[in-house]
Amino acid sequence: MKLTKSLTFFSSILIITSCTSDSESDLTNNTPINENVTYTGTIRNIIDNNCIMCHGTTPTNGAPMSLTTYANVKDAVLNRGLLDRISRPQGSPGMMPSGGTRLPQSTIDQVVQWKNDGLLE
Ligand code: HEC
Repeated sequence: MKLTKSLTFFSSILIITSCTSDSESDLTNNTPINENVTYTGTIRNIIDNNCIMCHGTTPTNGAPMSLTTYANVKDAVLNRGLLDRISRPQGSPGMMPSGGTRLPQSTIDQVVQWKNDGLLE
């Protein structure tokens, strides 16, 4: 009986303490939830990993333009249908990366988000 009581008391303390420290860290580590997608933070890596083997500084394999700078990629979104190309179904004509595997939807979504956020550098 006595043991049960003190165990109960002890676990209450644990619960109360963990709740307290949880809400404290919620308040102090208040990082922004909706951080904007930027070229430097996110998009450059996506392009470097999937596109520049053809869309390099000197484009190869018949690619018509370079995608190695912020200005290149921004221009491709605004004037060359980049979002349309990466959003096409796997294997359909004109899908990018050309002849490769469609990007994961979460990656495509990040590029969409980048455009919605205003194509930030
Ligand atoms: C294996 C080579 C290759 C890879 C990898 C590749 N592309 Fe391409 N890309 C091409 C070729 C060739 C064309 C021109 C033919 C066409 O328009 O489909 C092209 C055309 C494009 C165009 C249209 C340009 C215009 O002015 O009409 C866009 C936009 C584009 N690529 C974006 C990308 C993006 C973004 C990636 C990476 C996710 C990528 N490409 C990966 C070869 C490639």
